[in-house]
Amino acid sequence: MKGNGDPAFWAKAKAHLVRYGGAFSPVIATSAKGNYFTDADGRRILDFTSGQMSAILGHSHPEIVEVAQRSIAELDHLYSTLLSRPVVELAALIAEIAPGALDRVLLVSTGGESNEAALRMAKLVTGRFEIVAFSRSWHGVTGGAASATYSSSRRGYGPSQPRALVLPAPDTYRSRFIDQRGVYD
Ligand SMILES: Cc1ncc(COP(=O)(O)O)c(C=O)c1O
Repeated sequence: MKGNGDPAFWAKAKAHLVRYGGAFSPVIATSAKGNYFTDADGRRILDFTSGQMSAILGHSHPEIVEVAQRSIAELDHLYSTLLSRPVVELAALIAEIAPGALDRVLLVSTGGESNEAALRMAKLVTGRFEIVAFSRSWHGVTGGAASATYSSSRRGYGPSQPRALVLPAPDTYRSRFIDQRGVYD
């Protein structure tokens, strides 16, 4: 099998993929398990970076693999007004562990979508429209989420949503609120 340097792989990637955030890392991932993935040179690499699910639960968690395989085989996707038992059971479970009166759930597919829904719900409930987000934030590539994202992708896309406001993210190491004597203002 060819290693990480495989020129045909990188030529194809360059020709057919739009980059997501920054440049692609110069490794070809071949498999992943637990906290590690393996690259095409056979190295096991501790994965600090992958999606929130694999970062917390590990790659290919056996229970998740089993549920995903069974669900896809039995009942995969339905129109949004059609309910099934797993959907209602999941909503009830989330409500059980969610704090306070957070007892109703909107199930969507991605982080961007959930932020989009949260922004819209907040606007609907408050009747207001200003959104404050931290600098160095990433909330997704959809319209509202991207307007509340300040770590990248703000140049060259025209105006963001009206009244998107930014707060400096806390940074005790290189704080912008420290005066010349090193004391917090
Ligand atoms: C904090 C945070 N919010 C939102 C998102 C967007 O999630 P998605 O790519 O699933 O839309 C990400 C993705 O990396 C994220 O790290």
